This record gives sequence, C-alpha cells and structure tokens, in this order.
Amino acid sequence: MAGEEFCLGTEGFTLFGVLAASYIVITQAWRAIRGLRCHLLSRWWRTDVTQYGQWAVVTGATDGIGKAYALELAKRGMDVVLISRTMEKLERVAAEIEKESGCKIKCIQADFTNGSHIYRKVQEELKGLDIGVLVNNVGMKISEISSKFLDAPNLEKMLDSTINCNILSAVQMTRIVLPQMVQRKKGLVINISSETGNRPYPMALIYSASKVFVDFFSRGLHTEYKSQGITVQCVMPLFVSTDMTNKMKTNIFVKSADAFAREALNTVGYTERTSGCLSHSLQSYALNLVSDDLFHFVLLGKTLEKHFKNLSSRYKNN
Ligand SMILES: NC(=O)c1ccc[n+]([C@@H]2O[C@H](COP(=O)([O-])OP(=O)(O)OC[C@H]3O[C@@H](n4cnc5c(N)ncnc54)[C@H](OP(=O)(O)O)[C@@H]3O)[C@@H](O)[C@H]2O)c1
Repeated sequence: MAGEEFCLGTEGFTLFGVLAASYIVITQAWRAIRGLRCHLLSRWWRTDVTQYGQWAVVTGATDGIGKAYALELAKRGMDVVLISRTMEKLERVAAEIEKESGCKIKCIQADFTNGSHIYRKVQEELKGLDIGVLVNNVGMKISEISSKFLDAPNLEKMLDSTINCNILSAVQMTRIVLPQMVQRKKGLVINISSETGNRPYPMALIYSASKVFVDFFSRGLHTEYKSQGITVQCVMPLFVSTDMTNKMKTNIFVKSADAFAREALNTVGYTERTSGCLSHSLQSYALNLVSDDLFHFVLLGKTLEKHFKNLSSRYKNN
C-alpha cells in the first residue's frame, strides 16, 4: 500500500514536470514566433503611418534617434514638426530632410529641461495641424560621470532637468496632441524609453527610473485609449550610435540611428512594447535571464573599473 502511494506520487511528480516543461516550451516558442513576426515579417508588411494623419511631431529631432525617426517618417510620406533646443541645428536638419524626402517641415525651438511653461508656446505652434504621429524621443544624456545618487554633480539641477526632459516632456506633449487624435479616432504615440527601464541601474539611477516612468505611462495610456483608435508604443533600445553614446562604432550589438529608427518604425502595428530591433530584442531577452543581483555586481564592477582608470590617467597626467 505504502509502495503504491509512493508510485502515485512519482507519477504525479512526472506529470507536473511534463506540464511545466510543455508550458515553458510553448510560451518560449510563442514568444519566438511573435518576435519573428514583429522583426522579420514587418520588413515586408509595414503599417502605413500616413493613415494616422498628415503630420508627425518629433521631440529631440535634430540628432540621433529623433532625427532618424523624423527622416524615416518623412520618407514614408508624412510632414514633420521638429522640436529641439538649437535653432541653427533645426534649420540645418529641416533643409536636409526636405531635400531628401520633399515633405513639409516646421521647426519649433524649445528647451525641455525647463518646466511646464514652455508648453504654452509649443501648443500654440501646433494649432491647426492634423497630427497623426507623436514621437516623444527627447531625453537627457546620462552624466559622463556615473555616480551614486547623492554624489551626482549639481544634484538639485540635474534632478529638475532630467525629470523635466525625460518625463514631463512625454506627458505634456501627449496632453497637447492626444485630444485631437481622440477626436479623429486615430493616432500613434511612440515613446522612447530604454532597456535601462527594465531594471534599476545603480550609478545611473535617475535616468533609468525616468525610463521606467515612460514605459509604465505608455502601457497604461495604450490600455486607456486603444478602444478609441489610439496606439501607444513604448520603444526600449539598448546601444544606438549617437552623441549620447559618444558615437560608438556600430556592430551586431550597436545599431546606427537610421537603421534603428527604420526597424523600430516597422514594428508599429505588431507590438506595443519593443526593444526596437531584432538585435536589441535578443540582447534584452538574454539580459532578462540574468538575475538582478549578478547584473548589479557586474555593473558596479565595471563602473569602479572605469573610475580607477580615470583616476590613474589623471595621476599619470599630473
Ligand atoms: N543612444 C542610445 O544608445 C539610447 C539607448 C536607449 C535609449 N535612448 C533614448 O533615446 C532618446 C534619444 O537619444 P539619442 O541617443 O538620440 O540622443 P542624442 O543623439 O544626444 O540627441 C538628442 C536630441 O535631443 C535634443 N535635445 C537634447 N536636450 C534637449 C533639450 N533640453 N531640449 C530640447 N531638445 C533637446 C538634441 O538637440 P539639441 O542638441 O539641439 O538640443 C538632439 O536633437 C533619448 O530619450 C534616450 O534616452 C538612447
């Protein structure tokens, strides 16, 4: 009798193992199929972005990922509003995009590190445009010197600037643009977050926490407005070669801004939360297999190594 009970227990255990293994295999296979559909199929079957409206608005549009999105949207038939800090850069990039795509361009100068008062002027300048796509791209560069929270240089100013630029800009721009999208029952909001929003990044904490906000805001907003024809997509890149990353050399891990924006725009209509391109999705998947403790141990090790290198080169130069 006791032996029979033991046998049943073993069978139950085996059945549980088989069910658990099947669950893992099926969910991972489903994930792989969705990934392939999103990153490969989308190259041939793209969502037509002009269906959302005539104009696209891009923040932080004179360089890097923002400029690449603006150019790609223009190539796909949209007129584009570029918003950035520097007028000369705005005019130069506007001329470049106009020449390459033949679309209409409007420039708005605004510094997003300033507070809420800048949005009155932005709202005024956007009045009357049929805006179908909003790309909330602008984001503050991670400080050159990564540091613990209290050790950041100009901490008080850095907090204001980063929160204004990385968080307030996304919510205020959405407040301005969303009502007309809702009225027309169509619209696309793309929010640029970061892989650093997937877990806390010690030594770049405010940046990574600001990117979590963008991720949560996007996911919640999509749920609230999808029934009214609005798509909100959160894009969470890893390394893209831009000023922010000191123009790193591109390779299979690091994308150029143009290639990134092209691939990321292709994923519209396929997913509402993405790393943006196949290479970054695979890297993000691999990073998610690593425990947070191990990840933080390696990250802190790398940061300390960088500090010691800086210190020793300063010592040598003296
Ligand atoms: N590059 C990456 O590897 C990477 C990875 C993950 C996420 N991201 C995110 O992607 C976004 C774009 O990054 P990026 O690498 O393309 O940056 P970038 O090359 O440094 O370009 C930043 C753009 O934003 C504008 N800008 C910067 N500060 C501004 C301000 N205070 N007010 C108005 N405009 C401002 C800049 O124009 P001006 O110079 O004229 O101000 C420029 O057009 C950011 O949100 C970033 O967090 C980037």
